Amino acid sequence: MLFDIKEWFTDERASAMTLFEVTHGCTPSKMKAKKGACGIFQAAMVADTNLVMEVVLKEHMDIFKGVSSLVDAGGALGAAAAAIAKALPHVKCTVLDLPHVIVGAPTSHDVQYVAGDVFEYVPPADAILLKWILCIWRDEDAVKVLRRCKEAIPAGGKVIIFDGVVDSGASQNVILKETQVLFDIMMMGIDGVERDEQQWKKMFVEAGFGDYKFTPVGHRSIIEVYP
Ligand SMILES: C[S@@+](CC[C@H](N)C(=O)[O-])C[C@H]1O[C@@H](n2cnc3c(N)ncnc32)[C@H](O)[C@@H]1O
Repeated sequence: MLFDIKEWFTDERASAMTLFEVTHGCTPSKMKAKKGACGIFQAAMVADTNLVMEVVLKEHMDIFKGVSSLVDAGGALGAAAAAIAKALPHVKCTVLDLPHVIVGAPTSHDVQYVAGDVFEYVPPADAILLKWILCIWRDEDAVKVLRRCKEAIPAGGKVIIFDGVVDSGASQNVILKETQVLFDIMMMGIDGVERDEQQWKKMFVEAGFGDYKFTPVGHRSIIEVYP
């Protein structure tokens, strides 16, 4: 995509599309549908999840304290849920994703798969995980998804978000700054949304949540959100 930035900025026809469309000739969702559930996207998501979960389960295990059931909403092929189920066998893990993704999910004894739409229904659980998914939607849609998640958890439950928080305090670190710039370009390319802490908080309040906690991990953060 980087090589097409010039055309994207200077060509009127190209500027009307996302950078991703200029490079690939279709939207991310059309490409996913074309390539099937085992396409380049899923492979990239699994690679990212393996790295993120290794860090989370090593250094931030406390976020799962008191959780006996968890739904990874938009959890793709279930890499995060499988890692949690392996590390915490007492946690009943479920993955919710669109039917064309779930159809390609591996068979598992540890993880249950549910085909559905997160805008319609999220299965009930102590915790709902939203890893790198709210960034694909504008605020209005992200708030709708957060509301569905709130309906799915009990009073003492929580939503756990792994996502980018712009300027999360670590911006003095050069490596993190450079990583953020690469992410800025990638998010620009897929027409994704990056949010700072205030923008996240505004959505939590709109969705009816009462409390939240931000924990920066590299250039992304763990955000725990409480009813
Ligand atoms: C950017 S990927 C993130 C996948 C995974 N959470 C991860 O971090 O590897 C977004 C995921 O959300 C799923 N998704 C998009 N719209 C959805 C919807 N309306 N209901 C359920 N899942 C959805 C996609 O199929 C995809 O697996």
